[in-house]
Amino acid sequence: MPAPFDVAVIVGSLRKQSINRAMAHELLKVAPDTLALRIVEIGQLPFYNEDDEPDPPGSWLVFRQQIDAADALLFLTPEYNRSVPAVLKNALDVGSRPYGRSIWDRKPGAIISVSLGALGGFGANHHLRQILVALNIPAMPQPEAYIGGAAALFDQSGHLTSQSTRVFLGEFAHAFAGWVSTYVDHRAS
Ligand code: FNR
Repeated sequence: MPAPFDVAVIVGSLRKQSINRAMAHELLKVAPDTLALRIVEIGQLPFYNEDDEPDPPGSWLVFRQQIDAADALLFLTPEYNRSVPAVLKNALDVGSRPYGRSIWDRKPGAIISVSLGALGGFGANHHLRQILVALNIPAMPQPEAYIGGAAALFDQSGHLTSQSTRVFLGEFAHAFAGWVSTYVDHRAS
């Protein structure tokens, strides 16, 4: 059996009790064997400032290496005021530079937005999709994943209690594995 695809999972929330992070952990449980998911942290990255490129912060370099090593990208994001949280945009900017050396380029990706609200973070999901176009990350179009009313999906200790959401996550992960395989050929590596 070929090695699984290495997938960097990026969570756009820094909260300890984040529903997006909780959903990412549920995704790890249901993903097929063809995907090896690992969460890459973004909260430690200083704000992007191009003046720092001659002597970049170590955390930028580590982050760029962590993403560079991945075959594919999975984003789970909250919606902040109808867009993506600044911490996620910062991570995308950090990875996109120095100019011409973006580590995002041509890595297949997918987006899940998770929100307490009824709209399931639609605005953030599609703002992120717009950014991924600029970064040349082909984002899986279907199935779309706008998970709303998420407070009701977990118990007090952050475990998913919604079986239908678990089934959906499994279907999403399987579709993503197919999406990744159309872009990444292991036999070439
Ligand atoms: C929010 N929240 C929110 N929710 C939403 O559906 N649409 C929105 O535009 C916003 N805007 C917003 C702005 C800011 C600054 C905060 C802090 C929150 C609520 C959001 O869905 C909720 O806080 C989630 O719990 C955030 O996800 P995590 O941190 O639990 O993963």
